[in-house]
Parts: sequence; C-alpha cells; structure tokens
Amino acid sequence: MNKTEIFEKERASGYNQFVETWIPNYHYFLDRLPKLLRETEHKDLLVVGCGTGNEIERFTQASGHWEITGIDPSPEMIKQARERLQNFKNVNLIEGLLTDLDAGKKYGAATLLLVLHFLADNGEKQNLLKAIAERLVPGAPLVMLDITGDKDQIKQNLKILRLLLPDGLDEEQIKNRLFRIENELHYISEKRLSEVCIEAGFEPPLRFFQSAVYMGWITSKRVK
Ligand SMILES: C[S@@+](CC[C@H](N)C(=O)[O-])C[C@H]1O[C@@H](n2cnc3c(N)ncnc32)[C@H](O)[C@@H]1O
Repeated sequence: MNKTEIFEKERASGYNQFVETWIPNYHYFLDRLPKLLRETEHKDLLVVGCGTGNEIERFTQASGHWEITGIDPSPEMIKQARERLQNFKNVNLIEGLLTDLDAGKKYGAATLLLVLHFLADNGEKQNLLKAIAERLVPGAPLVMLDITGDKDQIKQNLKILRLLLPDGLDEEQIKNRLFRIENELHYISEKRLSEVCIEAGFEPPLRFFQSAVYMGWITSKRVK
C-alpha cells in the first residue's frame, strides 16, 4: 500500500495556477518531455500521480503516437484531467493507486512528477518506485521531477527560488510556502535519491534539469 497525499478543494481547483507561480520553468520542463522520450521503443506511457493531466496533455500534442495511462489517487485532480482530456482516445485515466493497477501489463516509459517529495523516506518512496519498476519493460525510461537536495542545498536554493518568483506575491504566502518546502516536504539528497532508485530496481538516475529546489531526473528500469 502506498501512502497518498490527497489534493482536494482549492488545492485541486487552484493547482495549475499554483505550479505556474511556484515552480519556475515548470512549463519548459513539461514541454520538452515528449522530445526527451522520443526514442522510447514502446510508446506506451505510464503517468504516475498525473494530477490534472499537465504532463499527459504534452504527450497528446507530440508527434508520434503515444498510448497514455494516467493514474492518481485524488478524485478532484483526476476529474479535472478527465474534463481536459476527454477527447483523446489514446488517454486512459484511472483514479486510484498504482498498486491497484494490474502488474501484468508492462509499459514502455513512465513519469513521476512532483510526487516523491510527499512520501517519507521510510520505505514509502521505494514502495512507489518498486511498483513503477514492476510495471515497466526492462530498460524503460522513468522521468522524475522532485524537490531534491541536502539541507544546505535546499536552504540555498530556496533563496534562489524566492528571487525567481513572479512579482507581486504576498510576502506572508511566500514565507509559508518556503517554510513548508524546507520543513514539511520529504525531500532527499541527490545521493539518497540515487540509492532509493537503485534499491527499487532502477539504474542510478541522471540529473538533467534544475530550477532552484526542483530537479529533473532520468533513469531506466534495470535490465537484469
Ligand atoms: C503536485 S501534484 C503533481 C501532479 C502532476 N504530476 C503535475 O506535475 O502537474 C501531486 C499528485 O500526486 C498525487 N499522489 C499523492 N500520493 C500519491 C501516490 N502515492 N501515488 C501516486 N500519486 C500520488 C496527488 O494526488 C497529486 O495529484
């Protein structure tokens, strides 16, 4: 059983505005995902914690045909994804946890964006990553975006994040958000992320993107 972080009410309805505001370069990252995965052999994508469908939308606009399965435990997030993506026959959206999804079917690639930092480093992160590995073909790529760093790195990158935020935000709101990242979210160091991925059956991940505290990683399911 995976732990979940349920997004509801304003957190769900205001989600897209939230990421736009607080994650500099988030759209740049999303827009490049189909390019990044274009050499994937089996274009059968598993989008874990798909939320409102931000990353799925990019794959529906990509050249080349992707079959996409998005899964998310938050009813209000998946509802928004359903409304937004209802016209796409190649998109299958599931409300639930990855462990509810048949492990018999194997996907050719996966994404895990902005999910891992909600799970504690007490086995929860590994459990989710293992559940992903079990549903991928050997060698399949996994792209992650996550708050990453050791305490000192996070402290310094939060100062950078503050500088990069849009003008006109409420100071109290900024303070609260930065406090939450530093003290309440379960970020881990780059070294620890690598260990957790290896334990779950992936290759050591490569950091290919960074925007302040947010790091983009690519790895692949280990070929035994
Ligand atoms: C910050 S949102 C990210 C949504 C989307 N990936 C994006 O980048 O816009 C985090 C999502 O993770 C989902 N989530 C929480 N716990 C989860 C778990 N154990 N497995 C998969 N998704 C989970 C939440 O429901 C929420 O929709």
